[in-house]
Amino acid sequence: MMTAEPKTLLKAPPAAPLVAPSILSADFGRLVEDCRSVLDAGADLLHVDVMDGHFVPNLSMGPAVCGALRTHLPDVYLDVHLMVTDPGMFLEPFAAAGADHISVHVEVVDDPVAVAERIRSLGISPGLALNPGTPVEDVLPHLEAFDLALVMSVNPGYSGQAFMPEVLDKVRTIRDRFGQGIRIEADGGVSPDTAEDCRRAGFDVLVSGSSVFGSADRAADIAAIRGVS
Ligand code: DX5
Ligand code: ZN
Repeated sequence: MMTAEPKTLLKAPPAAPLVAPSILSADFGRLVEDCRSVLDAGADLLHVDVMDGHFVPNLSMGPAVCGALRTHLPDVYLDVHLMVTDPGMFLEPFAAAGADHISVHVEVVDDPVAVAERIRSLGISPGLALNPGTPVEDVLPHLEAFDLALVMSVNPGYSGQAFMPEVLDKVRTIRDRFGQGIRIEADGGVSPDTAEDCRRAGFDVLVSGSSVFGSADRAADIAAIRGVS
């Protein structure tokens, strides 16, 4: 369900919550086909989880995978989530590989606003992410410079973990402060069972990996997460 020009997808409030399957849960042996399947099933964008084995205890994928998706799925919106200790190393490589959006973690950047400006200078939408253990106060002073706040609802590193409802208060705080002027992305443990709480709290971008890719009916799973068919 591609509802807007790729470059502007995260710039304005969506008509309905956007569903972003995380490709960390895709079949890496047939990645493009599996991604095409979830897009055909109604996904709005793809979430690309990049892990360096240092910021998180797992190693996932690099710019080459993003580039392969851009080559084979030229119109897809690619939402890159950098779970890396030095995100500055990867901004240009992912921009060159075709990323539309890059989120960096507040835990590892000294000057988030400068990073947002650098991402925008590459023609890409910037996002600021925070882990479950990071207070929302750590991102509030900087979010004006970003299009999206990525609120981790699991501890980063793996898919298939249980949703952490204690992060919902962070979304309410961000929504109260910024209204509809920012996208707020739920990331981790989102499924039809947890998505309603996410939507009610104010999330408008819903990442889902194991639920969508593991579903026997991906279209139904995506529709249930979005809350509308
Ligand atoms: C975790 C990643 C999430 C995760 C989502 O570090 O940032 O995007 O892959 O997968 P599920 O939906 O299975 O929790
Ligand atoms: Zn992620």
